[in-house]
Amino acid sequence: MERPLGRTGAFASAIGQGTTKTGPWSDASSERDRERIAVLQYGIELGMNLIDTAELYGGGHAEDLVGRAIAGRRDRVVLASKFNPEHSGYATLLAAAEASLRRLRTDYLDLYQLHWPEPRIPFEETVAALDRLVADGKVRWVGLGNMTSVQLEHARRLASHLPLVSVQVEYNLFQRAAESDVLPYCEEAGLTPLAYSVLDRGAGMVAGPRRDLLAGLASKYECTVAQIMVAWVLRRPGVIALVKAASRQHTTENAGAIALRLEDADLAHLEQCFAQRILHVAPERIDVRGVYRTADEARQNVQDLVPAPVAVAECLARGESLKPLPLAAMSGSGEERRYALLDGEVLYWGWVLARGLGDPMPAFVRDGDVGMGGAV
Ligand SMILES: NC(=O)c1ccc[n+]([C@@H]2O[C@H](COP(=O)([O-])OP(=O)(O)OC[C@H]3O[C@@H](n4cnc5c(N)ncnc54)[C@H](OP(=O)(O)O)[C@@H]3O)[C@@H](O)[C@H]2O)c1
Repeated sequence: MERPLGRTGAFASAIGQGTTKTGPWSDASSERDRERIAVLQYGIELGMNLIDTAELYGGGHAEDLVGRAIAGRRDRVVLASKFNPEHSGYATLLAAAEASLRRLRTDYLDLYQLHWPEPRIPFEETVAALDRLVADGKVRWVGLGNMTSVQLEHARRLASHLPLVSVQVEYNLFQRAAESDVLPYCEEAGLTPLAYSVLDRGAGMVAGPRRDLLAGLASKYECTVAQIMVAWVLRRPGVIALVKAASRQHTTENAGAIALRLEDADLAHLEQCFAQRILHVAPERIDVRGVYRTADEARQNVQDLVPAPVAVAECLARGESLKPLPLAAMSGSGEERRYALLDGEVLYWGWVLARGLGDPMPAFVRDGDVGMGGAV
């Protein structure tokens, strides 16, 4: 099954093959590389012709493996890569594109995407470089990623003459923030959402109180939990699911999810049990075990996180909204309850710098019993 790429009239497979966790060059083993290449080629044979990679993954190692995997098959593949936000200035983006093309052993990318925004670099520069790459035939279509609808609208206005076709967004049963913002925006704007971490990076399948429900459905449909999770994302027309698999078995399963249709009653049950209740939690009640321990450290950003927490704070101060952050419930109850931040450290510190430690931020509890009668 294929799905349209924006309003281009072109199509890509409904499931795209992801390429994260390839590992850096320093850890590369030729045996593991050969296996990765063979698995990607096997995925193409099964019809998953969209391959998503990035200069970030393995410091270029992932692009190199993809380049070797598609050799001799280039015209059968919809090849998507991403540039690092710090490369989104004019000259750095042109250089990053050349380096990606070299590693990918091709002279054009079907889709070239901004990995996530870098508010410090004027988007006009990014647009000018992409314009040049499209005019030179090095890029067919352009994609964005990890933006709110407000950021997408701003970007789209500046890039109105570019062939902008897609947006990468995290979307799975456990992380549904996209449903109230990015997915409706994409529908309206004619952009294709490329949903990533559809299997919750593998985490949703091994633990958690809602595991039984998924296992029950898997047994009913004689399939696997992973296939239920992919089919659930694909229930939304127009959405493409990116899934990363390192083995033939996982690849076979994932390709099999294309044909799986969940019945309305089961979709309704999933809807009820995986409803995402948005909480508002003061940052001072959230433990962050990340790079920074204090707001001052985050402000100085000596680790050079991109975007810088200060840049996120500036966006929030301008009225941009924050996507709800995933938390794990820790000790205590009620107003005393403490949480651990599971992801989104930069956004957390951006909020703290803009609003302080006492102003509640939007969040949700990842493994809570929301919708199943339990307390969060
Ligand atoms: N734009 C962005 O910011 C962004 C962010 C994250 C991801 N992405 C893209 O989206 C792709 C997918 O997302 P992701 O890698 O975060 O996570 P994911 O696809 O949700 O999860 C990958 C994990 O699931 C496991 N898995 C795959 N198929 C399975 C199956 N049938 N049964 C059981 N486990 C299975 C994989 O194991 P094995 O590897 O052992 O098979 C791996 O551990 C990425 O590779 C990347 O291309 C983009």
